[in-house]
Amino acid sequence: MPDAALGAVHAACMADIGHDVLGVDVDIEKITALTEGRTPFYEPGLDDVLTRALASGRLRFTTSLREAAAHGEVHFICVGTPQQPGSQAADLRYVDAVVDGLAPHLPASCLVVGKSTVPVGTTARLTSRIADLVRAGVRAEVAWNPEFLREGFAVEDTLHPDRLVVGATSREADETLRRVYAPMLAAGVPYISTDPNTAELVKVAANSFLATKISFINAMAEVCDAAGADVATLADALGHDSRIGRRFLNAGVGFGGGCLPKDIRAFTARAQELGVGAAVAFLDQVDAINQRQRARTVALARQMAGGDLTGRRVTVLGATFKPNSDDVRDSPALAVAAALHREGADVSVHDPEGTANARLAHPELRCSSDLLAACQGAELVLHLTEWSQYRELDPVKLARVVRVPMLIDGRNGLAHTEWQAAGWTVKALGRPTLPDGTDTHHPHEPLRATITHPATEPDRA
Ligand code: UDX
Repeated sequence: MPDAALGAVHAACMADIGHDVLGVDVDIEKITALTEGRTPFYEPGLDDVLTRALASGRLRFTTSLREAAAHGEVHFICVGTPQQPGSQAADLRYVDAVVDGLAPHLPASCLVVGKSTVPVGTTARLTSRIADLVRAGVRAEVAWNPEFLREGFAVEDTLHPDRLVVGATSREADETLRRVYAPMLAAGVPYISTDPNTAELVKVAANSFLATKISFINAMAEVCDAAGADVATLADALGHDSRIGRRFLNAGVGFGGGCLPKDIRAFTARAQELGVGAAVAFLDQVDAINQRQRARTVALARQMAGGDLTGRRVTVLGATFKPNSDDVRDSPALAVAAALHREGADVSVHDPEGTANARLAHPELRCSSDLLAACQGAELVLHLTEWSQYRELDPVKLARVVRVPMLIDGRNGLAHTEWQAAGWTVKALGRPTLPDGTDTHHPHEPLRATITHPATEPDRA
């Protein structure tokens, strides 16, 4: 999540379940916004919890770690762990900065709980770092409690997590965290109590598994393209096997964001340090398959433009790495848009929430939150982030706005038969187009009577 997001969501949700919370950030603008009840990023549902928590008097914000040290019995570290520039490894400078800023001011023994995604061994490293910095007589124990929330569902995932994982070295620390999460435990949320190394690993293993699942189906999309098969039907058929499950099997332009890509790389780097690089070498393939989907999307666009994109008017629908977020970090949609621009296309990007961040990341791209204006005169439209408003588009009306009705569905989320009926040429990775123009699969209405689709979970996100 954006750096302040995980912390803001956690702070607001902890206050919401009854704790007295002080949120800390070094960015005064973010702290001012949060104090006034404004969220400095887009996260559905956070406004309401924040307003409620501020009104209760149980939530305040500060930029002072000294004040935080005096306030808390439990200190949660929720800062970002981005990829180090020029390396695969995680950059732990923000985590270290919190510990270094907090430890000397701690007035009494307390618990420091990491929520950030970190390389295995971080709790042990921070434990000795803290011990060197605290005042005589103060004991600060470090525990790890990884956060599994998804952007777009951050509040829901925090208040109703699938599970809580706590890695602590003492029974007291474990009991303290059981008290912190008492309402969730009372609601039956599974609580996994383990050692810090295992807790740290659970998070990177979970994200590696999810990334692998997405790259697996994208690898199948490549095979489907070569064999003339349909990856969406394949995914449905696989997904009916309850051992596999349909979620995270949506083929398309691949995964992005501030978590999955950097987490698999950091995991690889850490495994190499531990001398077990070979055990996770497959993650390099997961990464490579994911990057190739972006390149394959650009190649498909070039092919549809007749081999040369120079001067062609192209519209990209979506800038964020997933819907219901304004986060454009490592966004597949923006990476494809930038590549099309580099090939000489005249690119216009639309996004409902992400245009400000997209402009900062790619000033060379024209970004707009006006959908029809962005599509005006387009010779090719690419659907690259599955915002719900794109599913609701009327292909008949849109055909009148564009110059050439050609569509790449890079998320396999649009009703291809409807678009084709409205005169569009539709292509998607891993999907054959039949000679009569109909596709073999419809994502929302099963075309084949014998296929019952599983309940749609909000993980198309
Ligand atoms: C992820 C993990 O899901 C979450 O548990 C962890 O705490 C943080 O990292 P997030 O980055 O918010 O969450 O996004 P997620 O919903 O996992 O999607 C990641 C990327 O995968 C997106 O770009 C999404 O479009 C893509 N994706 C997802 C697919 O390409 N296909 C799918 O089937 C599912």
